Formats: sequence, C-alpha cells, structure tokens
Amino acid sequence: MGTKPQLILGISAFYHDSAACLLRDGEIVAAAQEERFTRKKGDASYPANAVAYCLKAGGITTRDLTAVGFYDKPILKFERILDTYLGTAPGGFRQFLMAGPLWVKEKLFTERDLRSKLDYEGEMLFAEHHESHAASAFFPSPFEEAALLTMDGVGEWATASFGVGKGDDIELLKELFWPDSLGLLYSAFTYYTGFKVNSGEYKVMGLAPYGEPRFVQLIYDHLIDLRDDGSFRLNQDYFGYLDGLTMTNEKFHRLFGGPPRVPETKLSQRDMDLARSVQDVCEDVMMRMARTVHTVTGQENLCLAGGVALNCVGNGKILRDGPFKRLWIQPAAGDAGGALGVAQLIWHRHLKQPRKVTPGRDAMRGAYLGPAFGDAEIEAYLKSVGAVYHRLERQPLLETAAKLLADEKIVGWFNGRMEFGPRALGSRSILGDPRSPRMQAQMNIKIKFREGFRPFAPSVLRERVCDWFEMDVDSPYMLLVAPVKKERQIPMTVDQRKLWGLDLLNVPRSDIPAVTHIDYSARVQTVSRDVSPDYYDLIAQFERLTGCPVVVNTSFNVRGEPIVCSPGDAHTCFMRTHIDALVLGPFLLHKSEQPAWKETQNWKQEFQLD
Ligand SMILES: [Fe+2]
Repeated sequence: MGTKPQLILGISAFYHDSAACLLRDGEIVAAAQEERFTRKKGDASYPANAVAYCLKAGGITTRDLTAVGFYDKPILKFERILDTYLGTAPGGFRQFLMAGPLWVKEKLFTERDLRSKLDYEGEMLFAEHHESHAASAFFPSPFEEAALLTMDGVGEWATASFGVGKGDDIELLKELFWPDSLGLLYSAFTYYTGFKVNSGEYKVMGLAPYGEPRFVQLIYDHLIDLRDDGSFRLNQDYFGYLDGLTMTNEKFHRLFGGPPRVPETKLSQRDMDLARSVQDVCEDVMMRMARTVHTVTGQENLCLAGGVALNCVGNGKILRDGPFKRLWIQPAAGDAGGALGVAQLIWHRHLKQPRKVTPGRDAMRGAYLGPAFGDAEIEAYLKSVGAVYHRLERQPLLETAAKLLADEKIVGWFNGRMEFGPRALGSRSILGDPRSPRMQAQMNIKIKFREGFRPFAPSVLRERVCDWFEMDVDSPYMLLVAPVKKERQIPMTVDQRKLWGLDLLNVPRSDIPAVTHIDYSARVQTVSRDVSPDYYDLIAQFERLTGCPVVVNTSFNVRGEPIVCSPGDAHTCFMRTHIDALVLGPFLLHKSEQPAWKETQNWKQEFQLD
C-alpha cells in the first residue's frame, strides 16, 4: 500500500490580495500573497507566482494535487454585483459598464480559467467566501471547539457571519447581508477622511486616538440602525457604493459638513474626530456581535477572521471587556487567508480527515509560511550588485545587531521564511530602539515616507509581556492592542494637556515612547523562542544590553510598497532609505560602507511618495 500524500492547493484571487496555500496531509506547507512576488500592493490577479512558489515548496506539480480549492463562488458574487448595479440604474449602470466587462471576462469563467492556468484536470471545489474566512479562523486555531465570527466588506452576499467550530467541521449559524456591512461603513469613512479604501483603514484606526468622538451620535442617528444583538441596517441614502463610483455621496458630505479630504493634504482635527467616531461605532458593533455570538453558542473561545478582524483595537476590547475567555485571530484575516481556509475546508469536510489540536499552540507556524533564501543565493545577489558585506556567525551577528539597535541605529532584519498576512513578524522587519524619543518620527519620515502620526508596534519577549503591557496572553500576530503598563506611562503636564491633535505626537508617553500610542496603547507582538528562535534571541540580546526586552517592529517596505520578499527587494529598500544596517541571513551590511546607489526606477512615483 503506497503512502502517497494528499495535497490540496487553495487559491484566493480576482478580488483583493490574491494568494495561494498548499496543504500536505492537512499540514500547512506554504502560503503566500501574490503582491510580494509581483511587487504590486494588494495584487488581485491570478496568483501565478504564489502558486508556483507553493508547488516548489512542496516539491510537486499540479498533477500531484488531490484537489484545488477556490475561496469563493464567483457566480454568486457576479449575481450580487449584477443585482446591485442593475437594481440602481441609471447611476448604477455606469458603474456596471466599468466593472462588468472585467467580471465577465475574468471572473465568471473562473473554473475554466483556473484549470487552464494550472494545467489541471482533477477535482476543483468552491467554498463560500465567509465559509473560507471561518475555516481559516477555526481549523488552525489552538481550540478543540470555539465560536466563529467573520466580518469584512463583502464576499458574495454576506458581510458578516457567525457559527461554531467543533472537531473536524464548522457550521455557520447566521449571516448579515449586503449592503449592510461593517467593513464598508469603515471604508466609507476611510474614503471620506482622504485615505485609500482597502488599505487606509489602518490609518483611520491609528488616527482615531487623536480625535474626539463628536460624530458618534450623528452616525447612529442617520447612518446605522444598530440593534442590541449587533445586527444593523445601513441607511443607503448616504452611501455611494450602490449607485456610483465613490463610497459616500453628497448627502453624506452635507451631514458631516463638507467634501472628503483631498488625499495627501493636511489632516485637520475634524478628520481625527471622524476617525475616532467611526472607530468607536465599529468597536460597539464588534462588541455587540461578540456578545450575541457568545450567548447563542455558549462557547468560551472565539476565533475571528475577515478584514474587520484586522482592527486590533476592537479585538483588544473584545478580549478585555467581552464575554470570551480566549481569542484567536487568523493572521491573514483578509481575503488572502481565504486560500488557507478553503484548503482546510476540503481537507476536513470533503476528505473527512480528522483535526489534530495541540492545546496552546496554533497550526500557523508563526505565519512563517513564505519563501526563504539560502546563504549562497543571498551572497550571489550581494556580489552581483557590488555590495560590501560581512559574514558573521550566529552569536556575533545577534550581538552586533543588538548593539546597533541600542545605539539608536535602524536595522533591516531579513531572516528565514516570509510571513503570510499583512504584518511583518520578525522575518521581513525594520527594527529600532523603542526607548528613543526620536525613533517614531525618524522611522516614519526617513524610512517609511509616511505620515508622522502612524504608530509603531512593539515586539516583546513572551515571558516579559506582562512587565511592559497590561496583558498576559499570546499575541504572536500583532492583532491585539493593550495599554502600556501603568507604571511605565508618563502622565501629561498641565501645559501638554492643552495640546490638541497631532501636536500631542511629540509628547513622550512612556519609557518606550516609540511604540506608545497617544492613548498609551500599543499593538503588541509577543515573541516565543520555540516559534521564532533567531528573532527571540536578538531581542533577548538587546535586553541584555539595555534592560529592555522590547524592539520597534515595522514591516520591511516603504509606504505603498508590498513587504519585501527576496534579498534583492530588501537590499533595494535598504539602499533607498535611511536604514543604517541590514541583516540578510548571516550577512551584515553597514550603510556607511556601501558604494553609491544607482537608482534605475522612478520608484517614488511608482509608490506615489511625491
Ligand atoms: Fe473577505
């Protein structure tokens, strides 16, 4: 009897953030987003590179696959789009003409298209969008059973769902439908405050603590009819996404007293107040939904996925004030994670394979599921571009990097397999000293080319988290926000209390100011040695030098660019920015030793940095 492994390829594509994932006998072998390879942020095209990477990581071709899964049902989604646009003609018809032909060509023929691109004739299955999200939240979680909650912009028709995961299967009990969508409400304010829909939501969340919630009542009075159980209706009179090409309409603009902020213009106190208001409403909805899910399911554990589950401020609140004992959030909570969800759904539901749970440990391997690069490959690249580099043994390399950080240098850290999902978790990260009062402004402006208000996140040794933050749980994926420990906070003086909005930015809030947000919160990543040994040992070395077991961790990219994937991407980003030193596997590069950089592309224009 042969022991041929069962191989399942999951694909998410043609909407947001395409991705692929490979399971071998139920275990996650590889997962990656297409944007990392094509260098187009949020690339939604067929994930040819991500699929090729997954097959290579498994050492297989598509002929070896047991099944291919697609993360949603294109026909249902097309039906929703057709219904929306034609139902709201004539304005809607204009949008249909713009969106329609692409849908007909690319999306309606998904199966035929996928088969020809994959050169694959075997079994192909399609899951529903929120089922894929729910599967990605439950199956890799560390729980035998749990309640599931998914929230996003929209899939086919559903915009939120909840249910229960037990043993080998999940069951969705209830859904909320288009056009009533928490994700789209948040996106409407993202658009209105002058940020990009689908990627600027993070900025709105980061801006919220600078504002006052003075529009909350207006939102409840006019935009959203929220019920106690967390279900709601949105008043479509105020939104543009049903019949136009924008998120908000004239009536919305009149209600909030003016047109949308022009992107890249100065942020006003009003923008911050709008951000704060929609964030407060979003947290209210999330909390009510969580309470209902708890009442209906009676579960102690909650698993979250869908784009709204990236709202780590809301997640932190659910954990602190909500009814559940434990929370687990899929790190690739957006649509990329659907590739993983559908593959696992096929493994457990379709192939009826049992699920093995290790208590206290999830199946995501720290989300380090992307490509890694060998020393020889890295060195060949460095030689080819004439870089000056030093090869170091592991311990001296960690000591040198930690010393550089302690000396307020900014270090690019490229180590092992790339992360799956939107956060850099110590494989493709830029690191700094959180104790430095200058670090936040310096990293925002000179490295990331982005708004000065954007907060940075701390990575902290798991064993030390409760000495520095008001939390004592695992947060390996940086999806929970918690306050900096009370005794480390620096209260504001009487004069500082008079400051408003962004003027507050330069007031140090704690003894780790670079990662302490204006409201004393921090988006924490806990680092465990068994999952991230190199990153853990680096932070431990930094602690030995400074007494501080925390570093600033921001993703390795500039604004508008996907996180770096290859040594070449990392080296290019290093040379274009003010990163002081780069650790690429076992190699160390100092900026001061490098030959002059010859730019070949108009990259600032490409990433819209001018
Ligand atoms: Fe989604």
